[in-house]
Amino acid sequence: MDVGIAESAEHAASLAADAIENLLRTKTEAVLGVATGSSPVGIYDELGRRVSTGRLSLARASAFMLDEYVGLRAGHPQAYRSVIDEIFTRKVDIDASRVHGPDGTADDVKAACAAYEAAIRTAGGVDIQILGIGTDGHIAFNEPTSSLTSRTRIKTLTKQTRIDNSRYFGGDINSVPTHCLTQGIGTILEARFVILVAAGPAKAEAVRQTVEGPVSALWPGSALQLHPNVTLLLDPAAAASLTLTEYYRDVWAHKPDWQRW
Ligand code: PGA
Repeated sequence: MDVGIAESAEHAASLAADAIENLLRTKTEAVLGVATGSSPVGIYDELGRRVSTGRLSLARASAFMLDEYVGLRAGHPQAYRSVIDEIFTRKVDIDASRVHGPDGTADDVKAACAAYEAAIRTAGGVDIQILGIGTDGHIAFNEPTSSLTSRTRIKTLTKQTRIDNSRYFGGDINSVPTHCLTQGIGTILEARFVILVAAGPAKAEAVRQTVEGPVSALWPGSALQLHPNVTLLLDPAAAASLTLTEYYRDVWAHKPDWQRW
């Protein structure tokens, strides 16, 4: 696991955009895994800026979302499909028909989840998965005690997640759906490269558990220790509870270019 402690969240976003740009240079048909939430917004903004200056293009790329609420109508502004349109799809030149998400409105949830797994496989798998992390350590919506080999399925959100996300629902926790469809931890671990971005003191404990804690379903992010190619991009506040900080900084500073992305 690589730990990059950036000067700021904006700097971390720019480093993540570098990784995506580097991928697109050799693979124009790259498959990106896109997260919602506030953490990746800076990355999408930076990609948008680079697209507008002609530095990169996502015209031939495709994208797979991590998760979706169950119980919100299609087109609801807080449905993750709407959110990803707003924060990602519209900002870059990706073909909207190639941005995929689990169908949170499906009557047959099991079939919808299986179809989503199949779609990711058919696309050739995810090249770079962008991840945030919840204050309770969830990745995508894999809440604590999620199976470390789980696949796309329906999950019940924790109260903490619903409290955290109530800011998008006028502060009303009762308006936040109780259920979601989410890629499983096993699904996420199949991405070829995972970049997790985290900023702010509220994420410090989840980051510590992810990097330095034991692999445990109690802190789902810690499952990333089982993946051979993960980079965390943190601001100083999110990195504040790590113990081997000096080592991470040393590794990062001396990383040869060929090893960087
Ligand atoms: P955030 O959410 O990026 O809005 O902090 C992250 C998450 O819940 O996974």
